[in-house]
Amino acid sequence: MEFNQPAGENTLFDGGRVVGKPHRRVEGPLKVAGVAPYAYERHDVVAGQLYGYPLGAGIAHGRIRSIDAGAARAAPGVRAVVTALDIEPLDIWDYNVARLFGGDVVEHYHQAIAVVVAESFEQARAAAALIEVDYAPGDPADYDLDAAFRRLEGTGEPGTLVGDVEAAFRDAAAVVDQMYHTPSQSHMMMEPHASVVDWSDGGEMTVWTSNQMIAWNRQALATTFGIDPERIRVESPYVGGGFGGKLWLRADAVLAAIGSREVGAPVKLALPRPFMMNNTTHRSATVQRIRLAAGPDGKLKGIWHEAASHSLPGGRGENPTAQTPFFYGTETMRVQNHVVDMKLPESSDMRAPGEASGLMALEIAMDEMAEALGMDPVRFRIVNDTQVNPSNPEQPFSERHFVECLERGAEAFGWETRNTTPGGTRDGQWLVGHGVAGAFRGALLMPSGARAVLEGGRLVVETDMTDIGTGSYTILGQTAAEVMGLPMEAVEMRLANSAFPVSSGSGGQFGAASSTAGVYAACMALRERIAGHLGVEDPEFRDGRVIAGNTNMALAELEGQIEAVDSMEWGDFQSRYQMSTFGAHFVEVGVHAATGEVRVRRMLAVVDSGRILNPVTARSQLIGAMTMGVGAALSEEMALDTAKGMFANHDLAGYEVAVHADIPEQEVIFLDTLDGVASPLKAKGVGELGLCGVAAALANAVYNATGVRVRDYPVTLDKIIGGLPAI
Ligand code: MOS
Repeated sequence: MEFNQPAGENTLFDGGRVVGKPHRRVEGPLKVAGVAPYAYERHDVVAGQLYGYPLGAGIAHGRIRSIDAGAARAAPGVRAVVTALDIEPLDIWDYNVARLFGGDVVEHYHQAIAVVVAESFEQARAAAALIEVDYAPGDPADYDLDAAFRRLEGTGEPGTLVGDVEAAFRDAAAVVDQMYHTPSQSHMMMEPHASVVDWSDGGEMTVWTSNQMIAWNRQALATTFGIDPERIRVESPYVGGGFGGKLWLRADAVLAAIGSREVGAPVKLALPRPFMMNNTTHRSATVQRIRLAAGPDGKLKGIWHEAASHSLPGGRGENPTAQTPFFYGTETMRVQNHVVDMKLPESSDMRAPGEASGLMALEIAMDEMAEALGMDPVRFRIVNDTQVNPSNPEQPFSERHFVECLERGAEAFGWETRNTTPGGTRDGQWLVGHGVAGAFRGALLMPSGARAVLEGGRLVVETDMTDIGTGSYTILGQTAAEVMGLPMEAVEMRLANSAFPVSSGSGGQFGAASSTAGVYAACMALRERIAGHLGVEDPEFRDGRVIAGNTNMALAELEGQIEAVDSMEWGDFQSRYQMSTFGAHFVEVGVHAATGEVRVRRMLAVVDSGRILNPVTARSQLIGAMTMGVGAALSEEMALDTAKGMFANHDLAGYEVAVHADIPEQEVIFLDTLDGVASPLKAKGVGELGLCGVAAALANAVYNATGVRVRDYPVTLDKIIGGLPAI
């Protein structure tokens, strides 16, 4: 099916019976009972599993002269040790920048350089510690991103250039010109990267893993090992968080495959927690210079955003200017991003790549400009709303209700009653402050397919879509139930198996809109099959029955199996519109008047993201993302050891994420708008939007509480304490 014009009135979903209604997560009981097997727990899939354990490089870059694995091979329980020197460098798939295994070149710290396979986990781990490696380290490397930014600033072509930005700054009534810093961040999902691989005979490969993108994972394995993808089966039915860290193939599956081929038995391997920091990917640190120019009426005349981030050569880095061409109306703009090569682990996508770190800076700058103009920061954002893409005024937004997000939020939060004087409100030992920030994130779409099979009144839907904790099982089941007129209980969703039709996968917050559209396409095709089968036209499907003319029969009475496969393709009419998602975050903090310690007191997000397919699972996405934003604001920072070229705080003790207890009150309001351009269900994603802007709302609240403007994340007490008002 092709989606080739905006969705109009749709009796299936507008005023629908299942879609848009609160439904609990269908796989929830399996998870809380501990019987939903995650990758490392797939004890059932194949007998005789052995345990793999990785060894990571101890240098940031250079070469391996030799590896002595003699003691490891002789250790108890060890079946095999394969080192990087034992095999040719493996091929690199499109989205992997660093080589995952093989050869003597070390590109980053903790690059996998050996795998031990043993009868128990403890034996494998103990043996890995016995491996002796002789390195020829490279020269000390440069890790100074600020210096790189200064070197690059103003060089190269801007990504977006509108009007004469320099003239706008000359003529402005008010100007903001500041530097902002965001640190490198780690996905730190609960479940580590883990795989069980059976490649016992070096022929067919079966991979039980934890991955967001089944089809990409299969192709990446095929490219890496130089085999036909048809010989690889990938399953990933339960994923304990991904956040972008599981978009691409990582070393867990590669090492398990190598180990399995070597010993002729299935091997399971999870990356130890420290490997998450230096072996896998992360969100790069950014340096950002933001200049805003405004007229006396508060309208922006110029936005100038230039930034730098780092990655290995060829890596994606982090583009914190991603939102800037689209978010606020302005007469002129200049937007430019630089990716700097650095001898650090590859940086890549993490939840809302680009916008998450970009809005951490831009939304502070907006607060600063509002103050410079003497305007309320909510009002200032409203004044600068736009209904067309500011970098391409021919292109209207498909739907944009940002102003309503701000207004609804201000009212619900009690914004009017806040003290506008920084440092002006005390509650016992705490200085109290309020902050606001806008949220923006693109609404991407991907083709997505599914197979629908009806038998005996029960519907089975298969798609390789993943559920990374987001609620895919539930919203896809709702979609199928709605289209087929069946109760949720009559629908079984089977996900994340490479034997199923290729879906969008989970990433870029495109999963919900894309994969529900794919299930819609397959179920509409099934409806046609059923109509053809019965020889009727345009039947209605409701209450488990198919109804047309004189025909009125229960789906359960249809004989045999009826099957349909289809996928949703996206028409190019969508390029006529800018499709995005919007929100507003409001935060109240307390800052300790003596120590500068920051505590969140309450948070509110108002969200404009098309139809909300399921307010229960969507709300979970929002509050999870807001919690992640609190971590980004207050504590998350990968600490770079510039002497060793590695991230030093590589565990959850040293890398602190926000948790439930850090946030006493969190509210979410969905505008539940409908975006007919976005998808047949008029839905857009919410999974990444919720993170966008949160940290800036917090930093702005800290400013309101204390009068201390921190532009360098995380907002820790050492950056506040010197500027606290006298007690
Ligand atoms: Mo997302 S960072 O594309 O999983």
